[in-house]
Amino acid sequence: METLTGQVALITGGGRGIGAETAKQLAQHGATVVLVARTQAQLEATAAQIRDAGGAAYWFAADVSDEGALREAVQSALSIRGGIDILVNNAGFIQSFGAIASSDPADWWRTLEGNLKGLYLTTRLVLPSMLEQGRGQILNVLSVAGARAFAGLSAYSCAKAAGLMFTRVLAKEVRKQGIRVMAILPGAVDTAIWGDGEAIPDREKMIRPETVARLIVQMLTTPADATVDELLVLPQEGIL
Ligand SMILES: NC(=O)c1ccc[n+]([C@@H]2O[C@H](COP(=O)([O-])OP(=O)(O)OC[C@H]3O[C@@H](n4cnc5c(N)ncnc54)[C@H](OP(=O)(O)O)[C@@H]3O)[C@@H](O)[C@H]2O)c1
Repeated sequence: METLTGQVALITGGGRGIGAETAKQLAQHGATVVLVARTQAQLEATAAQIRDAGGAAYWFAADVSDEGALREAVQSALSIRGGIDILVNNAGFIQSFGAIASSDPADWWRTLEGNLKGLYLTTRLVLPSMLEQGRGQILNVLSVAGARAFAGLSAYSCAKAAGLMFTRVLAKEVRKQGIRVMAILPGAVDTAIWGDGEAIPDREKMIRPETVARLIVQMLTTPADATVDELLVLPQEGIL
């Protein structure tokens, strides 16, 4: 099973949800995982679970839209083995649900910028070392909301749609230099991102974060002669 032994994987948003499950499964496959998010207690807890299960885990508390803090986190990750082999750009949030007509401009812009900036900055900081080593994998966790329209989710959807085009452009720029660039677009996943409002879909019908993590690991362990470019994953009953 240990197909990623010797590899360093940086996972943003690795403290909880899809990112934490991905980190656990990557560690089970032998990768040394580096978790980045803002909430220290969650990072500590996830890293401890990975270590207790025999894996190797480090964590750095940083906001992925803060270039200075992120640079330090990436430098620390690079210092573990001299390179980063896998980057999972997973950090993301939904600020609020609501129609464009009644949206708050500051809130709208924060959601768009917050979701997109971390994707760009983290990639920008990690990419030079991947280009130097002539190999690497970047997997962006986007959303079905980046490919299909959902009323009430405009800022988040715009960020994810931009993330999809960012993924495609980056793949064009670096795939011939040994870097695999991929995106996964999940439908509703049962995590804290939904909050505890009453208007959310039935959590029982959502995808489990462990399932998304399993698919991410499959994408990252696909034999080198192929790439799973973009993977749309919906709950079994379809869009909820
Ligand atoms: N759940 C779904 O239905 C669903 C569906 C499609 C796509 N996605 C995407 O999947 C990804 C993971 O979401 P999730 O469902 O696992 O949500 P989650 O449980 O809320 O986890 C999000 C993670 O991202 C981190 N994060 C958020 N903003 C950050 C920032 N500015 N800097 C650093 N870390 C940040 C959070 O930690 P801190 O708050 O501690 O920083 C947390 O660790 C997101 O990109 C989301 O858009 C989710």
